[in-house]
Amino acid sequence: VTTGARTLLTGRDDLAGLAWRDGLPDGAPLPAAGSLPEGAVLLQVEAVALTANTLTYGLLGERLRYWDFFPSARPGWGCLPGWGTARVEASALSELPPGSRISGLLPIATNCLLWPRRLTPLTLRDGAEHRRDLPGAYQHYERLPPTAAGAAGPDEDEALGALLRPLFVLGFLLAEHLVRLAEASDVLTVVLTSASSRASQAVAQQLTGSGLRVVGLTAAPRVTACAATGLYDAVVPYPRAEDVAGLAPDGGVVLADLAGDAAVRDQLRAALPGRLRRTVLVGATHRADDQALVPHPSAEVFFAPEQLRQRTADWGVEGLRRRQDSAWRSYLDGARRRVDLLPARGPEAVEQAYREVLAGRCSPRHGHLLLPAAG
Ligand SMILES: NC(=O)c1ccc[n+]([C@@H]2O[C@H](COP(=O)([O-])OP(=O)(O)OC[C@H]3O[C@@H](n4cnc5c(N)ncnc54)[C@H](OP(=O)(O)O)[C@@H]3O)[C@@H](O)[C@H]2O)c1
Repeated sequence: VTTGARTLLTGRDDLAGLAWRDGLPDGAPLPAAGSLPEGAVLLQVEAVALTANTLTYGLLGERLRYWDFFPSARPGWGCLPGWGTARVEASALSELPPGSRISGLLPIATNCLLWPRRLTPLTLRDGAEHRRDLPGAYQHYERLPPTAAGAAGPDEDEALGALLRPLFVLGFLLAEHLVRLAEASDVLTVVLTSASSRASQAVAQQLTGSGLRVVGLTAAPRVTACAATGLYDAVVPYPRAEDVAGLAPDGGVVLADLAGDAAVRDQLRAALPGRLRRTVLVGATHRADDQALVPHPSAEVFFAPEQLRQRTADWGVEGLRRRQDSAWRSYLDGARRRVDLLPARGPEAVEQAYREVLAGRCSPRHGHLLLPAAG
């Protein structure tokens, strides 16, 4: 049982600025027993996965309102949301008693409040008033079984789920979109930047069997590890982006840009005169500028929560879930061999892991898992 709550705040204008603060993300103290707000549950955060995706939430936090999920009352500082698992510590809801566990979007903090609504045996949604206008995909939580006796956090599959599932969902949706684009524009090759990222790996894996050639671009030190995943037909280091032309000798090319690096995009456009049919802006791992993911005439923006809404309309909630669950199971089988889980226990280790990920020093195998409440 938590004795005091702590939250990691990040500078909204400077993601390298970090400060621990006592209390819940909004600075409030832990509610005393029996004094939870109506309809709320108090969570103890077990683990939050930290990847470049989390930092992109910070980079685009003002424009896409990522700072609004767990608002901090301190001006200039925000609480980054990430994907993880949590246990109910106190509850004002009989349907979700203490000890219940969930996975979904959580703060980098020891504790937070949630206002669960629409509970089913498998899922629930957060109904907090301040999250009402934010994209629906982020209000969705899965219910988890109790931990094994003696275990205080997620088991390996739950941890891999927190780390990989949101990026797998992107891969599932984006691969489908790229196949459609390719069919419509005589495209034979897909180029993915930040090929070492989990998101790109998921896209590449989901394109297996599509008949499209998949070429990855990554930083020179990561080429070998990236090629070793076996997910790409070829992997090229950034300084030699023009080599992509030789690896895509025929047909059109579509670029899915996860690095968000305009210089790399320009290089590819120059190397593929008249052949780069579409550019899809997906990510900003290089954090080259905060104008990442702004649509312009030569590029479209892909936003998974928006695509998820469309696919739900096409296939229904159950249809989408069935398709995703079966693709996820086969993805996870391969992915578990490509990831080393690195738990960071307690504030100091959490801060250190954060700085590693921020600096982009990680190998594609590193799977950082933050456990702020662990001693
Ligand atoms: N549009 C959407 O709906 C959507 C959904 C999910 C994710 N995404 C985006 O996909 C991207 C990838 O996320 P992820 O969580 O899969 O990433 P990840 O696995 O943590 O990727 C790490 C990779 O990102 C690059 N990188 C990270 N920090 C860097 C730095 N400081 N300097 C240079 N390179 C750095 C490096 O790749 P390279 O050396 O290979 O470049 C590194 O190997 C994110 O920008 C995320 O926001 C978008």
